[in-house]
Amino acid sequence: MRLTVLGAVVAATAVALLGPGGAEGVKWSKCQVAAQLLRNGFQRKDLPTWVCIAMGESSGNTRAINRHNTDGSVDYGLFQINNRYWCSEKGRGKGCNISCKSLLDDNIADDSKCARHIAAKQGLDAWVAYKQKCKGKNLSQYNVKPC
Ligand SMILES: *[C@@H]1O[C@H](CO)[C@@H](O)[C@H](O)[C@H]1NC(C)=O
Ligand SMILES: *[C@@H]1O[C@H](CO)[C@@H](O)[C@H](O)[C@H]1NC(C)=O
Repeated sequence: MRLTVLGAVVAATAVALLGPGGAEGVKWSKCQVAAQLLRNGFQRKDLPTWVCIAMGESSGNTRAINRHNTDGSVDYGLFQINNRYWCSEKGRGKGCNISCKSLLDDNIADDSKCARHIAAKQGLDAWVAYKQKCKGKNLSQYNVKPC
């Protein structure tokens, strides 16, 4: 994991969580997610939407894993990127040419690039959380100052 000075500060102030599997995770608040997204290539005007998606999908937990999809596929990380099309269980591969495991650390450069790739291919409707919680909604609660 690459840590810049800012990254170290963010990691130090993030809340450490014990996930269902016992693995330690990092859970970011909305303003921390906003700061991370800004540093990883998202445009400022798009932040409320993407913060809404990230909070809706993973509650800001970079180690979130969902194994309860009806088709047996698994979702990984902040954006809950799915292994059916986008990441591979065996090294790099599938649509984003990445390993699913690499989506669980708190360096979201690869997650962010993949999320934008998915959005370009399928639109934001690819995310259930977007359709249910963000699309056409008042996003003012996600329009937070990055911290
Ligand atoms: C996937 O990424 C690796 C490492 O960057 C690269 O060497 C490889 O050519 C990429 N594969 C595809 C299909 O883009
Ligand atoms: C969105 O919600 C905020 C806070 O509740 C409110 O101040 C604002 O007027 C709302 N905007 C719209 C367009 O409804």
